[in-house]
Amino acid sequence: MTSLQDAMAKEQSNAPMLETEGRPALGEVDGVLLAQATCNEWPRIQRFQARPDDLLICTYPKAGTTWIQEIVDMIQQEGDLEKCQRAPVHRRHPFIEWARPPQPSGVEQAEAMPPPRTLKTHLPVQLLPPSFWEQRCKFLYVARNAKDCMVSYYHFQRMNKMVPDPGPWPEYFEKFMAGKVGWGSWHAHVKGWWKAKDTHRLLFLFYEDMKQDPKREIENVARFLGKNLDQALLEKIVYHTSFDVMKDNPMANRTGVPLSVMDQSISPFMRKGTVGDWKNHFTVAQNERFDEDYEKKMAGSNLTFCMEL
Ligand code: A3P
Repeated sequence: MTSLQDAMAKEQSNAPMLETEGRPALGEVDGVLLAQATCNEWPRIQRFQARPDDLLICTYPKAGTTWIQEIVDMIQQEGDLEKCQRAPVHRRHPFIEWARPPQPSGVEQAEAMPPPRTLKTHLPVQLLPPSFWEQRCKFLYVARNAKDCMVSYYHFQRMNKMVPDPGPWPEYFEKFMAGKVGWGSWHAHVKGWWKAKDTHRLLFLFYEDMKQDPKREIENVARFLGKNLDQALLEKIVYHTSFDVMKDNPMANRTGVPLSVMDQSISPFMRKGTVGDWKNHFTVAQNERFDEDYEKKMAGSNLTFCMEL
């Protein structure tokens, strides 16, 4: 078996038993919706012991997590493509709040990983296990404008049977604005992490900047990780982490995930990878309503987003 087939077979054997129509429920922690399985594991997640040399990749869902994971891995592996193909990207970096018994939880996967560890979370700052702050870990946060995040999340919920069905777009639009989606309010998430950068070792990146000038942003990440990239290596990383290349990379595009979990015929995981797709979804009235609500929720923050390139 090739390593790719091996990884895919492993994915298949990890597939949970699902009723065809049923999707797992969401629970709530301090007013934030999270998978019920995550809520069940909550005390253990909160007790998670971070190490000072941990790097935590933090994002709101659909902000470009997979993209930054691939960039970080390529930097850490010094551009060695074979090493970056060792496992699907979502298996290379334990997802600390992830739980789907009887599979090993994110915490268990992280505990089994030799240091230095690169981990992933979608948690808002107030729900992060305290040891990450106590150990003064490095954080890499990627933010994406709310409108594109909403659109991307909607399509993701359509195709991913492990999260609630999004329902029709107008209904989803309201749920997202109210923060009634997994991992809670987009507004609270970005504001919380934006503030955290003032007091912690945190590099705050924007998806839109990464699209506009990937070379500059990758250099920025490398500097933060204490790595020096020569021009050839930098070009190589830019190329291999571009949307078109990642879309065809089976270790990044989730094609190894079984159809019972992700149905990519409904919407591919690597869907469009653009800035401004919200314009193909938002009606004029929705856009006005969104902007009005956004202004209120983001009042007092100096955080600004680019909504189109
Ligand atoms: P779209 O649905 O808008 O296409 P996450 O990894 O956090 O789930 O985010 C997924 C989103 O990031 C998807 O957005 C996906 O297409 C996009 N994405 C993934 N890799 C990318 C890349 N290399 N360049 C640009 N966008 C990328």
